[in-house]
Amino acid sequence: MTDKNWHIVILDEVGSTNDEAQKYCSQKGKRTVVAAKKQTMGRGRRGRVWQSLSGNLFFSAAIEFPLSDLGKLVIISSLSVLKAIKKLQPEADVGLKWPNDVLLGGKKVCGMLLEKAKGDYIIIGIGVNIKQSPLASDIMYPATSLAENGIAATAEEFLHLFLQIFSATSDNLSAESFAELRKEWEQNAYRLGQKIEIRQNDEVKKGLFLGIDADGGLLLKTGEKTEKFMAGDVFYIK
Ligand code: BTN
Repeated sequence: MTDKNWHIVILDEVGSTNDEAQKYCSQKGKRTVVAAKKQTMGRGRRGRVWQSLSGNLFFSAAIEFPLSDLGKLVIISSLSVLKAIKKLQPEADVGLKWPNDVLLGGKKVCGMLLEKAKGDYIIIGIGVNIKQSPLASDIMYPATSLAENGIAATAEEFLHLFLQIFSATSDNLSAESFAELRKEWEQNAYRLGQKIEIRQNDEVKKGLFLGIDADGGLLLKTGEKTEKFMAGDVFYIK
């Protein structure tokens, strides 16, 4: 199947769509997306397992993008998922959690795993809970699904919506256009200006969440200093 700008591959069953997408990192000028109806070894960030429940969406896009702009790609991807949900239900209580989670009613509805591939390729792996959400006991953050929030779409419909929005957002990216996207991301950020905790391996930092910078890094005000993070897990505290 081909969309306007994408080569779309839909498979019945894979281990991880991120691994399948690696096979498409050599077709110059072409963007390929691999989706699967069933994913048996879905992986999340930091070696976690991504529960891939039936009816949900699992896909990975292989695109040429400078590795130095990885942080921007994270922002563009999460914003595109948020916009796709808002297109389906404009009043949805959807928010962004840095670096790349999308929350619905304060619970995680989408996670992303971006990985460097061959040459200048980056794999953007995205899981969206369309029909079902994983059991709370198996995950570190409460989860939800579109269906639980009364948002009706199939996995395939959501994928097409995402691709249209992502293409429109990522094509012809410039410093100016990213500055606009950064503003938009911050307007939709969960708990902007509030106290958060960021954990990186064993290191824990607390501070005020100021927003993101021109690279897509998180800005945290810790006392008199503003510190920038390009990786880590964010937790909301009172
Ligand atoms: C996270 O929140 O920890 C990231 C989850 C990423 C899951 C998606 S599902 C499609 C793609 N294939 C994988 O194995 N992982 C990503």
